Amino acid sequence: MKVKVSAPGKLMIMGEHAVVYNHPCLVTAVDKRLYVEAEILTQLKDEIITPQVKESRFVLEAIAYFKQRYNIKKHVKIATNGDFSHQVGLGSSSAVTVATFKALSLLFNLDLSEKEIFDMSYHVNLLIQGVGSGFDIAAATYGQTIYFLTGGKTIDILPVKELPLVVGYSGIKADTPYYIRKVAEDFKNKEREMKKIFSTIHQLVDRAKETFLADNLEEAGTLMTENHKLLQQLGVSTIRLDAMVLASIKAGAWGAKLSGAGGGDCMIALVSKEKRKDVEKAIIDVGGEIINIQVNADGVRVEK
Ligand code: MEV
Repeated sequence: MKVKVSAPGKLMIMGEHAVVYNHPCLVTAVDKRLYVEAEILTQLKDEIITPQVKESRFVLEAIAYFKQRYNIKKHVKIATNGDFSHQVGLGSSSAVTVATFKALSLLFNLDLSEKEIFDMSYHVNLLIQGVGSGFDIAAATYGQTIYFLTGGKTIDILPVKELPLVVGYSGIKADTPYYIRKVAEDFKNKEREMKKIFSTIHQLVDRAKETFLADNLEEAGTLMTENHKLLQQLGVSTIRLDAMVLASIKAGAWGAKLSGAGGGDCMIALVSKEKRKDVEKAIIDVGGEIINIQVNADGVRVEK
């Protein structure tokens, strides 16, 4: 038997960094997917084929953890394939981990819940990276747009009507664990100041959740821009990201911010249909690259 499953990448909408410190964030699953094909082998060891090298560790750890947990002695072949590389920070490692667990559960006839897949994937992610809130794993597992609290304490799927985003890639691959640790270092020295920033981000995220649900995108945009200013205060933005955010707002976006750990990767702008082209051009003019992405995508699923 052969199975094929896929899991989506993600975009952080609001609340990055604060979500590592027990605050909520908003995340959406995107239509760039990571595919995993799996089968049981008769040979003596596992076979892993991952063209994107960074992923192989996540697949290997997922297989090891799964076999140990369910006392499985058989060997498997796992081959991965992606609509996106790990370069742009859309969460290929979390998607590949979630897809691997789903594929293994199908191969060995285990009816695992989404929460079980989330928990196992989060465990593997922490094992490898040591840090992280798990928001990307929630997006890969459940899909849609999610209000998420650290470690999956809350995973609320939000029935948002619209999330018209322009996504700009800064051209620089961000080192997420580095930025998480940098913020943690600063936290030791400036705890009071940082706690205040995180709780302000928390309030922005809670307000944004309501404004997105009410389809009040103008207000949601303003909250996103406020969130960006706080990320600047945390010291995780870059000159390029700031320029892309500013250019988007000048070109008529409702709001814009960096998305993710900072230091590079992507920014997002919330825009009306009328302003989309202007905002895209403005981002390109300051050196960004537009990535065409649809949001609110399906979570992990079986492929034919
Ligand atoms: C990185 O994309 C987002 C962070 O909040 C880390 C995490 O939540 O795992 C910085």
